[in-house]
Amino acid sequence: MSDLIAQMQHHVSVRNFEATPLSAEVKQQLIAAAQSGSSSNFVQAFSIIEVTDLALRTEIATISNSASYVNQTGTFYVFVADLYRQASMLKAQGQSLAGIQNMEALLVASVDTTIAAEDMAVAAESLGLGICYIGGIRNNIARVAELLGLPEYTVPLFGLTVGIPKTKNQVKPRLPQINQVAQNQYPRAQFADLKQYNQQIADYYANRGSNQQQADWTSKNLDFFSAPRRPEVGDFLKKQGFTLA
Ligand SMILES: Cc1cc2nc3c(=O)[nH]c(=O)nc-3n(C[C@H](O)[C@H](O)[C@H](O)COP(=O)(O)O)c2cc1C
Repeated sequence: MSDLIAQMQHHVSVRNFEATPLSAEVKQQLIAAAQSGSSSNFVQAFSIIEVTDLALRTEIATISNSASYVNQTGTFYVFVADLYRQASMLKAQGQSLAGIQNMEALLVASVDTTIAAEDMAVAAESLGLGICYIGGIRNNIARVAELLGLPEYTVPLFGLTVGIPKTKNQVKPRLPQINQVAQNQYPRAQFADLKQYNQQIADYYANRGSNQQQADWTSKNLDFFSAPRRPEVGDFLKKQGFTLA
């Protein structure tokens, strides 16, 4: 196994950081890694906003319900799905914006953005740093967009904390491959038979070092999907210019 694959299998989200800012050199390396990923049709439909202003970071941290680690981390980036550049090009040529407004274009931008963030995450972990994605910024997506001055055809998808880990959680066991990987056809019963995994996750939550819980993967999912989350996100996307069609 390569060192990289071994590192990836030791990934954990870090939520307790040293309050040490990252050097300009390290940040440059992280950004370069994020920019190196594949990009659908090479549209590079993402932007990265580093939040260095303390008041701004504090407000975003509060929105995210992740105040302690967003404020404390080495640095904090917001990853933005971004078709504003394309909108500007199309407008300059007097062309229709329909091509960047539909659901497919939004998917393209969201996938490009996520690839960039994960490349940064893997790069950060290769340097011994820790990361945590912060989807909590979407708790008030319109306010985050306003705070960052985001224009139309952009969406703040998630934040990423990157810093020196103070403590780390245990690795969370992933789905058994039999529940997630198949050949040629989707095996419905096999993928939905989660008895073994539920036992494994229940053991993990009951015995982990901190924040022990009585829960398994099914109970977590039932809770998470008990009602639609952040229903206002659809309206925000429309306000940003996307048709969702
Ligand atoms: C898009 C995305 C958004 C996330 N948002 C948050 C968040 O707002 N706060 C948080 O503490 N963790 C967040 N996480 C981290 C997940 O909770 C974490 O990845 C998951 O529980 C698996 O744990 P692990 O990363 O330690 O293996 C997010 C992860 C992803 C991929």
